[in-house]
Amino acid sequence: MADARPFHWEFHPEPVVREVFRVEGGRPLSGTVPISGAKNAALKLLAAATLTGERCRLTNVPEIEDVRAMTETLRDLGVVVDHPADNVYEIASGDVEWLFVPLEAAARMRASFILLGPLLSRFGRVIISNPGGDRIGRRPVDLHVDAMRALGASIEYRNGYYFATAPGRLRGGEVRFPFVSVMGTENAMLAATLAEGHTVIRPAAQEPEVDDLIAFLQQMGAEVERTFPDTIEVEGRKRLRGADHRVIPDRIEAGTFVIAAAVTGGRIRLEGAPCEHLGSFIDTMGRVGVGVSCGKDTIDVDGTAIGSSGYRACDVETAPYPGLATDLQPPTAVLLTQATGVSRVHEAIFEDRLEWLSEVRRMGANVEVLDPHHATISGPNHLLGTEVEIGDLRAGASLILAALAAQGTTTIHGAHHVHRGYENIERKFLDLGASISRTAEGAAVTNS
Ligand code: EPZ
Repeated sequence: MADARPFHWEFHPEPVVREVFRVEGGRPLSGTVPISGAKNAALKLLAAATLTGERCRLTNVPEIEDVRAMTETLRDLGVVVDHPADNVYEIASGDVEWLFVPLEAAARMRASFILLGPLLSRFGRVIISNPGGDRIGRRPVDLHVDAMRALGASIEYRNGYYFATAPGRLRGGEVRFPFVSVMGTENAMLAATLAEGHTVIRPAAQEPEVDDLIAFLQQMGAEVERTFPDTIEVEGRKRLRGADHRVIPDRIEAGTFVIAAAVTGGRIRLEGAPCEHLGSFIDTMGRVGVGVSCGKDTIDVDGTAIGSSGYRACDVETAPYPGLATDLQPPTAVLLTQATGVSRVHEAIFEDRLEWLSEVRRMGANVEVLDPHHATISGPNHLLGTEVEIGDLRAGASLILAALAAQGTTTIHGAHHVHRGYENIERKFLDLGASISRTAEGAAVTNS
């Protein structure tokens, strides 16, 4: 490290502006909603752009807090990040002089750890903080670290930081994961693009966002390919070039709006929606009785069955793609509060991603959390507006869904969590006829 800046970065988290959503429920949503670019693709594409000194251009990037956090982290490293228009980012990583990703960046966003692979691979060294991220249980990064070691890196952990070096170049090798990891796969793949020789990654995550990253890397001149559904192979190159890329649509945002129509008994059209990435979720909607039909890049949702035949209870289990996305488990749980009978929810990916159900229980949901991975929901439940608190991004969006379905006013504290991952969420709901506002915490209390 040429620089003498201290490694023990003093941690001063930015003051979070405390805001509340206030939702007046019980209105069927109708109209058309545009689906934004995928958060979990955009963050990795921004990181991938550091693999070259040439300019990369990304379009359809969602304007969300996590993207802001990633671009600020890149700028702190010395990367030039231009933002010439909404949803367009240009990245030029010619002079990266500061190979240090501080606790400050990591605490704002777990995805900052995706910088490990590209920075290590291109510059041969990086110091990166152990990441924080969502409050959805223990989320270690051992698989990322093991993957880098399998490619020849030396990594030491001291005082909350990983000190990673790869004198010369990383070497291609076998990266074997004990189970599927999305960012683990992506970090290994990013590192391997500039390593010397051939890398095989198995089992590789199959999420559409991973394939979007592969498409971008190929545009940059990387030799990377999914050779089997669960295998990615990379032939390392000496250098990559700049590229232009449009981020794929956000399947999790799309699923969230499907449920919004379903729980309000509404009818909406999603535009620019990735039906082909929502197979398991759409199957689940069919089992519950929500009308979903796919066009070329539209999804029409008909939630009117909620008032006639009603929705049916259904057992759901999350799984790596192509299974039901863990990020769609909380919205789906809200739907199941409106279904007749007992539904069992098995959250198989993360610990503690069922904890937020205690908030929806306060609204009148008949929910029992059996253990950190299992819950039952006995419906249908008449939800009533009350005060609730958001603990993480997807739980936040799901509390908005519950509030839209509820009778009366719900005050939802912790709105900033939702802005990490949903672009213009209240504008989109307002355009569909919802009654939702966002105000500063104090103002909301004064007005209530
Ligand atoms: C990605 O997280 C997404 N985040 C998550 O999105 C998503 O929920 C998750 O994949 C699963 O689909 C981004 O893409 C930025 P994993 P990731 O590694 O890659 C364990 C959202 O709301 N594990 O596939 O971090 C881990 O604890 C979010 O947008 C280890 O044990 O998830 C989990 O149980 C939150 N060691 C399982 O693997 C590791 O080193 C799968 O997690 C890494 C992971």
